[in-house]
Amino acid sequence: MDLYEYQARDVFEKYGVPVLAGIVADTPEEVKAAAEKIGGVVVVKAQVKTGGRGKAGGVKVAKTPEEAYEAAKAILGLDIKGHIVKRVMVAQGARIAEEFYFSVLLDRANRSYLSLCSVEGGMEIEELAVERPEALARVEVNPLTGIDKAKAVEIARAANFPEDLVEKVSDVFVKLFDVYKGEDATLVEVNPLVRTEEGDIIALDGKVTLDDNASEIRHPEHEALEDKDAADPLEAKAKASGLNYVKLDGEVGIIGNGAGLVMSTLDVVAYAGENHNGVKPANFLDIGGGASAEVMAAGLDVILGDPQVKSVFVNVFGGITACDAVANGIKGALETLGAAASKPLVVRLDGNRVDEGRAILAEYAHPLVTLAATMDEGADKAAELANA
Ligand SMILES: Nc1ncnc2c1ncn2[C@@H]1O[C@H](COP(=O)(O)OP(=O)(O)OP(=O)(O)O)[C@@H](O)[C@H]1O
Ligand SMILES: [Mg+2]
Repeated sequence: MDLYEYQARDVFEKYGVPVLAGIVADTPEEVKAAAEKIGGVVVVKAQVKTGGRGKAGGVKVAKTPEEAYEAAKAILGLDIKGHIVKRVMVAQGARIAEEFYFSVLLDRANRSYLSLCSVEGGMEIEELAVERPEALARVEVNPLTGIDKAKAVEIARAANFPEDLVEKVSDVFVKLFDVYKGEDATLVEVNPLVRTEEGDIIALDGKVTLDDNASEIRHPEHEALEDKDAADPLEAKAKASGLNYVKLDGEVGIIGNGAGLVMSTLDVVAYAGENHNGVKPANFLDIGGGASAEVMAAGLDVILGDPQVKSVFVNVFGGITACDAVANGIKGALETLGAAASKPLVVRLDGNRVDEGRAILAEYAHPLVTLAATMDEGADKAAELANA
């Protein structure tokens, strides 16, 4: 899960990372009140989960509460790379002397952590990384030892910080790593990290990505950070039922057990779709090990709720969950859903107790259900029905 800037700011504050005052607001009136409360120069900043806000007109300096009000009117409702601004943060204005860049992230390819750092931070960092990669220090961080003071100093020196700043910025790097580790993040990025005219080092903009795998058990408090409005309603519904669901843009709904089987099913359906007007898979849905009636009903309910879906392919390989249980699950799901189940369903069962499973569905003889003997046959049938 990516955090909004204001959420990252709050987390930073909790860990002692130096930040400035910030108040979130949803209307120009609230922005004006926030600017009055903070006092002095403020910066009104769009809260959207995408980069390049400044360049898109989503970050504006305001010298008075009236200016802040006008800035909010211009920013709220703005479309930044497809993200509509619904909320802004009113931040205390900093007198910036210099802008730096710092990040620490999960380096999957090297099974390690990586810190990126530069004395040339700010809005041009993406260009800098491409045009002058040598100006962006890349320092591997051992996940077992992390960024302690010595490592932080090494990062600051690799980034060419002048000696008189190394002490101060390295303290901040250690605290930012505390955030990374303490919150089980996969990314903590500060751009810009600034030196103010007063000589303070402050994190002016933060991006934090939390590891969802850690959130569930290690950080139940992270759920409160989730933006329920912004999530796709079907994805939210699937999540509430504990299902692994990703929406895609095709027409054939897919349900399978096990991520590997579902992935292959996507490929096979896409391939079969080439013979049926190019229809494609509509989603990824892994119902996991227990394909009970409730789980199957929840899965079907989510998929059938997608208006783009024209047919559904249920592809299950019975292992610990036997095919007769899955067949009963499908039967139960269709009974539970009743008239809500209105789209054709192609079912391929194989593996443990396959004969019993097929017999249950054959006997049930639901008009919407077609049994397929193989995965290829099922994919072809589902694609054909989606194109009908
Ligand atoms: N509180 C502040 N006080 C003074 N200037 C600020 C403040 N916040 C941001 N700025 C200025 O605005 C610039 C852009 O702000 P910020 O980094 O938050 O947005 P951005 O980088 O454009 O957005 P994104 O990080 O989404 O790409 C900063 O580089 C900085 O110069
Ligand atoms: Mg930024």
